[in-house]
Amino acid sequence: MKTGKIVYVLLCNFVVSWFLCSSVWANSAIDMDIKVDMLLAKMTLREKIGQMTQLTLKAISSQKESAQTRHQIDSVKLKQAIVDHHVGSILNSWDASLTLEQWHQVISSIQDLATKQTRLGIPVVYGIDAVHGHHFLKNATVFPHNLALAATWDPEHVRISNQITAIETRASGIPWNFSPVLDVARQPLWSRFFETFGEDRYLVTKMGVAAIQGQQGEGRVIAGDRVAACGKHFLGYSVPLSGKDRTPAWIPERQMREYFLPPFKAAIEAGVMTMMINSGDVNGIPVHANKHLLTGLLRDELGFDGVAVSDWEDIIKLHTVHRVASDERHAVKLAILAGIDMSMTPYTLSFQDHLQDLVQQGEITESRIDESVRRILKFKYRLGLFDNPYSFDKSAAKPGSSESFKASKNAAEDAITLLKNVDNLLPLTTRSRILITGPGAASLPALHGSWSYTWQGTDEALYPKTSQTLLQVLNKKVGEDKVQYVAGASYSSVIDLDAVRRAAENADVILVAVAEKPSVEQLGIIEDLRLPNAQIELVKAARSAGKPVVLILLENRPMIIREIEPGSQSIVMAYHPGMFGAQAIVKVLYGDVNPSGKLPFTYPRYSGSTETYDHKVSESQDLAYAWTAFRPQWPFGFGLSYTRFEYSDLRLDSNEINKDNRLLVSVTVKNIGKRRGKEVVQLYLRDLYASITPVVKKLAGFEKIELDPLQSQEVTFAIDPEALSFIGMDNKAIVEPGQFQVLVGPLVADFWVK
Ligand code: BGC
Repeated sequence: MKTGKIVYVLLCNFVVSWFLCSSVWANSAIDMDIKVDMLLAKMTLREKIGQMTQLTLKAISSQKESAQTRHQIDSVKLKQAIVDHHVGSILNSWDASLTLEQWHQVISSIQDLATKQTRLGIPVVYGIDAVHGHHFLKNATVFPHNLALAATWDPEHVRISNQITAIETRASGIPWNFSPVLDVARQPLWSRFFETFGEDRYLVTKMGVAAIQGQQGEGRVIAGDRVAACGKHFLGYSVPLSGKDRTPAWIPERQMREYFLPPFKAAIEAGVMTMMINSGDVNGIPVHANKHLLTGLLRDELGFDGVAVSDWEDIIKLHTVHRVASDERHAVKLAILAGIDMSMTPYTLSFQDHLQDLVQQGEITESRIDESVRRILKFKYRLGLFDNPYSFDKSAAKPGSSESFKASKNAAEDAITLLKNVDNLLPLTTRSRILITGPGAASLPALHGSWSYTWQGTDEALYPKTSQTLLQVLNKKVGEDKVQYVAGASYSSVIDLDAVRRAAENADVILVAVAEKPSVEQLGIIEDLRLPNAQIELVKAARSAGKPVVLILLENRPMIIREIEPGSQSIVMAYHPGMFGAQAIVKVLYGDVNPSGKLPFTYPRYSGSTETYDHKVSESQDLAYAWTAFRPQWPFGFGLSYTRFEYSDLRLDSNEINKDNRLLVSVTVKNIGKRRGKEVVQLYLRDLYASITPVVKKLAGFEKIELDPLQSQEVTFAIDPEALSFIGMDNKAIVEPGQFQVLVGPLVADFWVK
């Protein structure tokens, strides 16, 4: 070692020891980069690799939380992980929610060791999936899932719900949330459809950015009541060719950039601090081993400077599942060289030995390790963990306040989407005698979906006693004497259809809560989009007495209901509306809320026809060589109201623009019905001819407004040139001159780009 370097290292050692032993770290104005470099200079290779390792809570626990048992940390395993192996991050719950006090104990026992019993005292960063509220915290606020939030078409619901989630997550001592999902859902079979903001990149981008802003707040340093967000899953996860989770996707670069990249790009521009990597394989290369995507695109092109964390066990899976690595050591090499910073191992520590060996054998440079560790330390710094490793403030307001519950209720009410309402059957009157049946009628999991108190969300015993089912809320609304409940069918088997037929005779209206069993990831894989036969038969039985039938849909993804749609007078899409979902649905059914949700996806009529709204003209060619083949069950953006809106006066500030100009579009919307109501004004663009086959239309703006009867409002949209662009021949965005159209409601206006 040269003398200059020795002096530098000694100096660094001295300075690091000095400021770590004092409160200088916490209080000084020394620039973060310098602090991090000084700390890095002090770290051994083993300590650095420790920072890159993430274990799950189960790996350091001895007992699971359940209805009978209390969660317990295993102090021996914990010490091994934190002190002996320098593990820098822990994640998850052991598939159960804990109380605030329990979380404080978990965090304290981890941070006590990390900060007081290790040589450098570097705090651990804890991460969790608070994907629709911090449902791994007992009594926290649980919101509608993202698909439902997208159906509100109001980014403010997303921002507020994510802010509340951040506050409640941080209150439990956890500063990192593995959310939002930024994948664009263009394959309805995919088991994580409900976790997305739908099929359209523009809507997903707006909602995704709102989620990040809600969680992280403003600026590069995260406040004590916010958390770091994690955009996931970079990139191309949501369109597996088979529809099955974590199976190969084939996405040409043009399509990747056109449909799947925009939300991630916008997330980086919005300052998202971390990114989780797609577990799947895209174009034959598992993304965890894809340097082109993880370094070329994510870092060099998009400028992401945060932490890239692997998904669950995905480095090992490069060997065991994807088979691009002949052993685990090879898998670690591929992933680290591709650009992963942190390995969610999440049970084993073999990652550490492999990585150490790879560096010692000169197959990975230590400077590559430093790059990742620097990002991880900066991340911890920005979270304020060096100042307050415990991350919670015991005096802060308790989670689950009445205001946060109200935000969850409001979001659910704005999400519910009325898809059909023949002869204005809805709203119902409280005088009608009701039969309610179906697997969603008396089920809390059906309303919440997975990621609710447990991973799959199906353990009803762990739900708060205060949560209410549809049946309970209905009983309160109209009185038990007017409500009959017959289970009829479970998610996939018939229970007793004769009982349904008998009960139907004595009812005025029949509500069938059609539901898909909550499930996610591999456990949510299905082979057919058709609603299980048992439920189809249930709906037919419900109809036997000729009474009007209302379907309430509680689904993980759009299930095909073509056979039962025609005989159902009203259909209400409820998605997974969350902890106040039953109340919101009942309010819509009885007209206490005028429905205003709009589908954030195209609802297919056939399993084999799952084209999205922004398809190409050729995709609508039918057997008779006409153009009627695109006829989904319900279109993207569709949703009825108990009032009606009229669109008029579509105006453009110019009908000839330069391709760098902004276009101003305004339209007048009037409530011509008898009730106050909300309308989502949606603006689409159509590029008539282009060098890459243009889509029939694409969303370029939306605004949700509320109008009294006979009230009108002018809505103005500013269309940026970017909205006119598409990914061209050379895989770069271009705007081509030519004729375009603006479509708002039933109105169309032409303009030309010069
Ligand atoms: C999921 C991620 C999740 C992670 C941690 C994985 O199986 O794909 O979305 O954040 O587990 O729980």
